[in-house]
Amino acid sequence: MKNKRKIFSLLMSLSFVFLITLLYAFKSKTIEDNSYQPQPKWKNLKVLPQNISKDSLDYLMDGYTNALSVKCNYCHASQKDNSSKLDFASDDKIEKEIARGMIKMTNDLNKIYFQPHFPDPKPAQVQVVNCVMCHRGAPNPEKYLAKMSTMYKTYNPDRDNRKEKMLKEMGKH
Ligand code: HEC
Ligand code: HEC
Repeated sequence: MKNKRKIFSLLMSLSFVFLITLLYAFKSKTIEDNSYQPQPKWKNLKVLPQNISKDSLDYLMDGYTNALSVKCNYCHASQKDNSSKLDFASDDKIEKEIARGMIKMTNDLNKIYFQPHFPDPKPAQVQVVNCVMCHRGAPNPEKYLAKMSTMYKTYNPDRDNRKEKMLKEMGKH
């Protein structure tokens, strides 16, 4: 009789501990699920860092649209099966490929000509040259400046066949 009571109370306390552990595990899991945002797995980055966070990528993309006064679809093609949505990983638009060259050029200008002269505190974060410094809200700054004054006339419409040439090189046309 005494033994039975002991076993019973032991089982009771064990199940109590089990219940509390279960509740706690459940609770902490819900908290984790709410706050944890997995790092996106980017599909097709060729110049930006593979491990760039969503916040940083969004920040850069917003910057490009503002600097050129365009929308996302200036560089990004539509999805094949749903033309109202964009396929961000697609390389179908030549503007995206040109933008890759622009990102690389801008990075190189900062790295080679500016960062060595700004040693403190974090030279790698010095971004003196950026898209808007040249673009000033126009997709093609050379064309835009040509309209302003003869002083800026470096733009020659007869040689403005960059996109066609690039498409040919990429074997698209
Ligand atoms: C001036 C051109 C340009 C504009 C405008 C632009 N993007 Fe991009 N975007 C790029 C380029 C170039 C890449 C690829 C970078 C690389 O290769 O490292 C890219 C990559 C991306 C990716 C990553 C896709 C993947 O998984 O590979 C996302 C998401 C994205 N852009 C979203 C946006 C959004 C949202 C907007 C509008 C707010 C936008 N972009 C506007 C040029 C642009
Ligand atoms: C040093 C000046 C300079 C900087 C900095 C610069 N660009 Fe450009 N960009 C130009 C010039 C000039 C053109 C027009 C001639 C050409 O297409 O090469 C151009 C053309 C482009 C085009 C093609 C536009 C079209 O439809 O013909 C895209 C897209 C572009 N730039 C994106 C960017 C992005 C994104 C950045 C920042 C990462 C950037 N550029 C930084 C000078 C610059």
